[in-house]
Amino acid sequence: MASGRSLFLLLQVLLVTVLSVSAYHLPETAGDDVVEVKRSQREFDYFALSLQWPGTYCRGTRHCCSKNACCRGSNAPTQFTIHGLWPDYNDGSWPSCCYRSDFNEKEISTLMDGLEKYWPSLSCGSPSTCHGGKGSFWGHEWEKHGTCSSPVIRDEYSYFITTLNIYLKHNVTDVLYKAGYVASNSEKYPLGGIVTAIQNAFHITPEVVCKRDAIDEIRICFYKDFKPRDCVGSKDMTSKKSCPKYVSLPEYTPLDGEAMVLKMPTDE
Ligand SMILES: *[C@@H]1O[C@H](CO)[C@@H](O)[C@H](O)[C@H]1NC(C)=O
Repeated sequence: MASGRSLFLLLQVLLVTVLSVSAYHLPETAGDDVVEVKRSQREFDYFALSLQWPGTYCRGTRHCCSKNACCRGSNAPTQFTIHGLWPDYNDGSWPSCCYRSDFNEKEISTLMDGLEKYWPSLSCGSPSTCHGGKGSFWGHEWEKHGTCSSPVIRDEYSYFITTLNIYLKHNVTDVLYKAGYVASNSEKYPLGGIVTAIQNAFHITPEVVCKRDAIDEIRICFYKDFKPRDCVGSKDMTSKKSCPKYVSLPEYTPLDGEAMVLKMPTDE
């Protein structure tokens, strides 16, 4: 038994070694200074700013931890928050993990207040990083998507501050609010009306993603100079049937502390 187990472990180690050696074609000695898209992943075509609706996401909260903004009680976010800024191709695919640049939270320490408020994690999970590990939500977004925004964005700090800036300039929550689309657990809104409100505000068509009839995400897209443009997914909005004709923007009522299974922040 014991030897079978160690053989298995050895095989795992070998596999991981083989994978990690073959995964990087770029000279690693240059570290974070290498800003180059892998040959297999050509330069991206446009950016999608993906915004999550906490009312929909947080309803699935099963347990709590300090990094999960759904667990902030009455301070849980009530407006669209940032999921990420994603470089995409016009054919609907996207590059990921474009070069090795391990996430370093210290590089963005001056942005923490803004990130906690506008770009919080809405879960306790640790998403995978590009190089076989588990990391923070921000680490995942930077390594997987941020590294592919070169040559427009060339480092971690620029990725986060640029994303915060374009988010602050395009307040989707406000656009919907002014058109009468506010968080509600009873109202249903026409999807067409929501799309029109955004079209009128930014002169582009967004992409809307639903979880059943609840709006889960709204994506607004940008050229490389950050002028708004249509998202690729917006064209087949009706054919894709991602959202029904009438959608909701659920309010999130946090469970009280007793109902939550509280976990230490280091869990998971
Ligand atoms: C966006 O608009 C909403 C509704 O008007 C407002 O409550 C919120 O503070 C605004 N968010 C930002 C980031 O300016």
